[in-house]
Amino acid sequence: MNDFAGKVGLVTGGTSGFGAAIAKAFAARGGAVLLTGRDSGRGAAVERAIAEAGGRAVFVPGDVADPALCERLIAEAVRRLGRLDVLVNCAGIVHLGTAEATTTEAWRQVMAVNADAPFYLSRAAIPVFRRQGGGAIVNIASELALVGQPGYAAYCASKGALLQLTRVMALDHAREGIRVNALCAGGCDTPMLYEEFRQAGVDPAAGLPFARDIIPMGRLGRAEEIAQAALFLASDAAAFVTGAAFAVDGGNTAGGFIAGAAAAKSARA
Ligand SMILES: NC(=O)c1ccc[n+]([C@@H]2O[C@H](COP(=O)([O-])OP(=O)(O)OC[C@H]3O[C@@H](n4cnc5c(N)ncnc54)[C@H](OP(=O)(O)O)[C@@H]3O)[C@@H](O)[C@H]2O)c1
Repeated sequence: MNDFAGKVGLVTGGTSGFGAAIAKAFAARGGAVLLTGRDSGRGAAVERAIAEAGGRAVFVPGDVADPALCERLIAEAVRRLGRLDVLVNCAGIVHLGTAEATTTEAWRQVMAVNADAPFYLSRAAIPVFRRQGGGAIVNIASELALVGQPGYAAYCASKGALLQLTRVMALDHAREGIRVNALCAGGCDTPMLYEEFRQAGVDPAAGLPFARDIIPMGRLGRAEEIAQAALFLASDAAAFVTGAAFAVDGGNTAGGFIAGAAAAKSARA
C-alpha cells in the first residue's frame, strides 16, 4: 500500500514503542515523517531504519512539555518536508499513584506530556491543515481514558483530558476537512509496560502473565497492531470518522475489565 504517498506526518514519541512503529508504518506506506522524542540515539536509529527501508524520515529531538518546541515541530515539518497532513500525538508517560500519593510535580509532568503537548501541537497544526484544505490528528489515548483504574490518578486524568480535547476539536473543525480521533489502546508489550512494573515494584516474570490474563483475548497487543489502527484513523479509509474513541484493547473495555478478570480467574482455577 502506498496510500500516504505525497503526505507528511509528524509523530511524537517516535523514538520508542507505538510511536516508532507508527513512524515506520507511515513511511512504509509512502509518507514522509518527522519523528520526535528526547532520546537522540533512539531517534536517530528509527530515522536510519526508515531510510534503510527506502522511506523518508527526519528526527528532531526535544521535550514536548515545552510549548515552544511543539510550535517549532509543526513549523519544521512544513519547512523540511513541505507540508503537514497527519499529526500523531503519541508521546506519553505513566505514573502510578492514588491522588493522595501523587506529588504536584508528578501530576504536572504527566499532564504536561500526555495532555498539554497534544494541545500545543494540535493548536499549531490547525492553521496549516486549514491552509491545505484538511488534515488528520490521531491522539494516542488509552483504555484508561474510558474507564478508571485504581492507583493511576494522574495518568487516567491526563488521558481523559486528551479524549475530551479530541471530541471538542473534532466538532470545531468537522466542516474544514480536519478529522480528530483518539485511539484508546489497551495493554501492549512496549517499554511503558516495564516502567509500570518498575513503579509497582512487580517482577516482570510475575507481572507479564497477569497482564496477559486480564485481557479478554488472553494476550498483550503489539506496537505494530496499534500502528495499523492509528494509520487507519489517519487515512482516507476513515474519511467519515471523527471524534471517535477507537478502542484497540483486546476487548478490555467491552467488558469494563470484568470479562478479562473473570477469564483470568477461570484460567487460574
Ligand atoms: N503500552 C501500552 O500498553 C499503552 C496502553 C495505552 C496507551 N499507551 C500510550 O501510548 C503512547 C506510547 O506509549 P508506548 O507504550 O509506546 O511507550 P514508550 O515505549 O515508553 O514510548 C513513550 C514515548 O514517549 C516519548 N516521551 C515521553 N516523554 C516525553 C517528553 N517529555 N518529550 C518528548 N517525548 C517524550 C518517549 O520518547 P523519549 O524517551 O525519547 O523522550 C517515547 O518515544 C503513550 O501516550 C502511552 O500513554 C500505551
